[in-house]
Amino acid sequence: MAEGKKQATWGGRFSEGPAELMLRIGESVSFDQRLAPFDVQGSQAQAAMLAHVGIISPEERDAIQAGLDAILAKVEAGEFNWDPALEDVHMNIEQALTQEVPAAAKLHTARSRNDQVATDMRLWFKYACDEVDASLAAVIAALVDLADRTQRVIIPGYTHLQRAQPVSMAHHLLAYVEMFARDRTRIAAVKAQANVCPLGSGAIAGTTLPIDREFVAKELGFVDAQGQPQVTQNSMDAVSDRDSFIEFASACATIGVHLSRLSEDFILWSSAEFGFVKLPDAFTTGSSLMPQKKNPDAFELIRGKSARLTGNLQMLLTMVKGLPLTYNRDLQEDKPPVFDSFDQTKLILDCVAACLPGVVADAQRCAEAVADPALLATDVVDYLVNKAVPFREAHHIVGALVGLSEKLETPLNQLPYSEVSQIHAALGEDWIQAFDLDKALAARDKPGMPGPDQVAARIAHWRQS
Ligand code: ARG
Repeated sequence: MAEGKKQATWGGRFSEGPAELMLRIGESVSFDQRLAPFDVQGSQAQAAMLAHVGIISPEERDAIQAGLDAILAKVEAGEFNWDPALEDVHMNIEQALTQEVPAAAKLHTARSRNDQVATDMRLWFKYACDEVDASLAAVIAALVDLADRTQRVIIPGYTHLQRAQPVSMAHHLLAYVEMFARDRTRIAAVKAQANVCPLGSGAIAGTTLPIDREFVAKELGFVDAQGQPQVTQNSMDAVSDRDSFIEFASACATIGVHLSRLSEDFILWSSAEFGFVKLPDAFTTGSSLMPQKKNPDAFELIRGKSARLTGNLQMLLTMVKGLPLTYNRDLQEDKPPVFDSFDQTKLILDCVAACLPGVVADAQRCAEAVADPALLATDVVDYLVNKAVPFREAHHIVGALVGLSEKLETPLNQLPYSEVSQIHAALGEDWIQAFDLDKALAARDKPGMPGPDQVAARIAHWRQS
């Protein structure tokens, strides 16, 4: 028997089976078998609905559902024999069921693989979003813990990678918490978009059979906050829409960008040049040649993997953009990128959450880095503004002080007052107080600023949410 004859699902009109290469290019079971739990769930709900409207008997429904339970148990035990000649997860499961349960021949009534795969993937996105959200929450918790430990560790904040103004390490870390909190809302939006049931759209144009779309939607948990079923409103859109794929990959790519920037900061901070933190041994590696090396490989890999996440998004956008409505087989290629985005995003989030508790700040090195009084030049400008000097002029005056400091090779706060007072009359003897680091930070006490009270309030906020 030609391999293709196995294709009882669509083989009726074919006299010859597919070529070996057709099987190889056509199979997706190697990557979509992970949809098995969702495919089984979808089919069990479909059987329940078919019985509800009288297309199958309650006994047939029960036999189908029990048979699917047995198949899923086999899949989970690793004992299911996936056959690439049966193309995908849907046909593998249906064929296996048909061999055990005669009523399985009725399961595909009023359904196509087009609305079936759309349903499986929407169920999968809801699951995947919950998983990513839990990992994001763990990263946020770990960052807040580290911020808590580094509230009194003052470092230079950087712009253009040049020392700019002092901030606490906690404030710097809490910037990432804001990003990851926004990522949680993005992931929640993806989940909400996915929470609509496409079953009943058929291949493209629904069905003439008396199905109950709301019933099956409810069975599968596609419901709103009030428990009302949510079903797609255009059968052609429902079978060809891949927005959830793009939005999920986009949310993962954004998470990747945030993690990559965080990684870059930790890579810099752990270098000898910065020395702001020590990374835990468990998330670093040594060199096979240089015995002294301790490399920040975990963070470098996270930075590298984030490129994959961007690529996956790009691939999906490119694949969908030229497709006429409705389903085209190209769309089978939609799954590897989203599965990869999910796996990699979860892995790198979990790595960061596990690594952060072992990060130790080196307060001494940070204090040395932040000791340059020039970091408080802007505070001298504010001092002058408080003395009614227009800001632009104040900026210019402090520029002159910085120039003088360079010329005399003397730190800004050690310039002789006799020279300072000549630059501008508004520079009183108390100008030197602008260089008090603690006071400078404490004065930044408005929402969003790095003052210690603000930072403490933000830590308390994140602990509660
Ligand atoms: N494996 C297919 C996919 O993932 C399922 C849908 C097949 N539909 C079809 N008309 N051949 O896209």
